[in-house]
Amino acid sequence: MIIAIDGPAASGKSTTAQGVATRLGITYLDTGAMYRSITLGLMDHGISLRDLSSIEEFLNTVKIEFGDSNSGSKIYLNGRDITDKIRSTAVTEKVSVVSAIGVIRESMVQIQRKIGGNTDCVLEGRDIGTVVFPDADFKFFLVADVEVRARRRLKDLDELGEEQTIEEMIADIRCRDELDSTRDHSPLVKAEGAIEIDTGKLTIDGQIEKIVNIINQ
Ligand code: CDP
Repeated sequence: MIIAIDGPAASGKSTTAQGVATRLGITYLDTGAMYRSITLGLMDHGISLRDLSSIEEFLNTVKIEFGDSNSGSKIYLNGRDITDKIRSTAVTEKVSVVSAIGVIRESMVQIQRKIGGNTDCVLEGRDIGTVVFPDADFKFFLVADVEVRARRRLKDLDELGEEQTIEEMIADIRCRDELDSTRDHSPLVKAEGAIEIDTGKLTIDGQIEKIVNIINQ
């Protein structure tokens, strides 16, 4: 069984997908964390986003591993725990440009299809229901007002010890949504047949419950 959960930045995908996977006892895959890890790796290696051959070389050697497939609590890049680092503002500012690069998407999608092909899985991202698993058993598209999303993300950043104003965060989220929605490769769009859920009006438990109920029906 494949459950696809897509939506714009900070719409509640990770918390919801993680909760749904735990409730159903199946694997959870955070595909955004994969693009964030690649972004961090390219930054750490000083690889230019214009240098496609170095990017391909990097993709051929890089290893992304998840610490706990049910909670997705840890992520490792070539054995290094990068769980917190990939949430930093420095990575967030670059990830949408990195994830628009075709060879990077092809490589990540291949890994995602392999994981989803081997196990029942909840995958969350931007293109799961449209490109990665267009035949997913269930497709959900999460949305929420931009201010609600910005407040959530400020709370996450605060936990990492970083600060931003609400205005800066709203601008960042709008910018990332725009880049993600207008890129050539796998733009963020609601997949055909996806059920839209506005998480601004629900509690975390409420949104998990809603999805689990639809699946169990
Ligand atoms: O959690 P948040 O909404 O901030 O973003 P994320 O899910 O961690 O994804 C970070 C970025 O990776 C997005 O803004 C997209 O640019 C990219 N992404 C993508 O292109 N395709 C996916 N399937 C998942 C993420």
